Amino acid sequence: MDRRWWQRATLYQLYVRSWQDSDGDGYGDLRGIISRLDYLEWLGVDGIWLSPTMPSPDQDWGYDVSDYLGVHPELGTIDDLDALIEAAGQRGMRVLLDLVPNHTSSAHPWFVESAASRQSPLRDYYVWADPAPGGGPPNNWVDFTGQPAWQWDNTTGQFYLHNFLPAQPDLNWWQPVVHEEFRRILRFWFDRGVAGFRIDVAQGLYKDALLRDNPPCDEEDGPLAGRFGLQAVYSENRPEVHAVYREWRSIAESYDPPRLLLGETWVEDLRQLAAFYGQDDELQLAFNFPLVFAGFSADSLASIVASTLAALPASGCPVWTASNHDVGRFPSRWCGGDEAKVKLALLVLGALPGSLVLYYGDEIGMTDVAVPPELARDALGGHGRRPGRDRARTPMQWDESASGGFTAPGIRSWLPSGDVAARNVAAQREDPGSVLSFCRELLSLRRERAGQPQPGYERLPASPGVWRYEAGELIVTANFTGRPVRLPAPVGKVLLSTAGDRGQVDPAALAPWEGVISSRVR
Ligand code: GLC
Repeated sequence: MDRRWWQRATLYQLYVRSWQDSDGDGYGDLRGIISRLDYLEWLGVDGIWLSPTMPSPDQDWGYDVSDYLGVHPELGTIDDLDALIEAAGQRGMRVLLDLVPNHTSSAHPWFVESAASRQSPLRDYYVWADPAPGGGPPNNWVDFTGQPAWQWDNTTGQFYLHNFLPAQPDLNWWQPVVHEEFRRILRFWFDRGVAGFRIDVAQGLYKDALLRDNPPCDEEDGPLAGRFGLQAVYSENRPEVHAVYREWRSIAESYDPPRLLLGETWVEDLRQLAAFYGQDDELQLAFNFPLVFAGFSADSLASIVASTLAALPASGCPVWTASNHDVGRFPSRWCGGDEAKVKLALLVLGALPGSLVLYYGDEIGMTDVAVPPELARDALGGHGRRPGRDRARTPMQWDESASGGFTAPGIRSWLPSGDVAARNVAAQREDPGSVLSFCRELLSLRRERAGQPQPGYERLPASPGVWRYEAGELIVTANFTGRPVRLPAPVGKVLLSTAGDRGQVDPAALAPWEGVISSRVR
């Protein structure tokens, strides 16, 4: 079981800068996490994924790495990280780091050297190209702000590629030496006891060798369909990337227990998503963005789940998540802050076969926070029709004090806090009807099954607006309507309800937005 500990397990994504400040500078840090590990143990998570911890000039808050083998001084030291891994391990939790292999910071010594001259031995670590005939950028690719993805470099008279900010030059994965560097990086952290990596922009490493123009996008520029009117078919999503993950998987498997590779696989097509699992020889987990952007209805969610399970190889473990530091928080996107809906969302995702990844604050129903422009910190989000990303990066709401218990009294946190009086850990811990108490019960149900093989899944007939499914010995019945509905028989033994104690309610009916997990009657 231990070799596949992530199957049916619960991971917790922790945005380090916003979780707990231990030294009163208004930024969360590693010592802060250590001080709150008892909470995560109490909650019942099996592992934590830390947002980037490596040194960085923070143009994109750590997603612009300037040293892959270090720890950002604002977050702590490498000894703090070792101490965190150790302390989490004592509580039965594993620690994953965030790895950014698509690009580095322009302050990374590799790029500084690469940009020094055309003859630099590191020139080919990055994607350099001459202007198009007649001048201008080499092709039509745009970055995530909608600007040309090419930055002119006066010193060497060529453009370099950046799919994100100009301060984030893309690495050139056609160069074997780049592979070698990352094999070394992987081993460095795995040797220190890191349980695995979340891999940033996992679909993006390789670019078309001929740098062909991206074709226009016929559809509306949705979150997944295209990028500012172009389909990103040549600037990312290239087939060569799979060989990288086969290589990394064999490194991961050479450890005991095997290390986990969890991809940020930002693809629209579920068959493309499934390809990242390979023949059980690439990523063990790949994030499912079509689910994130699905509507919050029985049919919409059930249809993505069915297509996902049909597309994945038999050995593939799906992973369900609905919030993160880029896409915002599901309690806002799906639930408009309504706690009954938040519990229902947690219940339907938590009972599915697969791994569950919670984003910090999901467990108390934390909602997006409107950060005023003068306090904004994110340079990359908020372009075109894309909303800014600060809204989902605000401090964890621990209690109802001014900073929500995130930092010392009187200290200004790096982003403003949300409504700490409306939602905080301290109050919800005391309240058996809270989202937090519910979430903890759900995770304890999951924990009993963590590490076990995936159960089968089947959607069962139910009235319109109701999603009823069987997953192994569990039956889930979820009412996605604002009306009470009859609970189809047989109900079996009710293990958990979003409405709390079902002894108090009509045993044959579901309340509006109520969901129930029961165990199958044979
Ligand atoms: C990923 C990260 C995002 C970052 C981008 C560039 O999508 O999740 O936060 O801005 O990659 O590294």
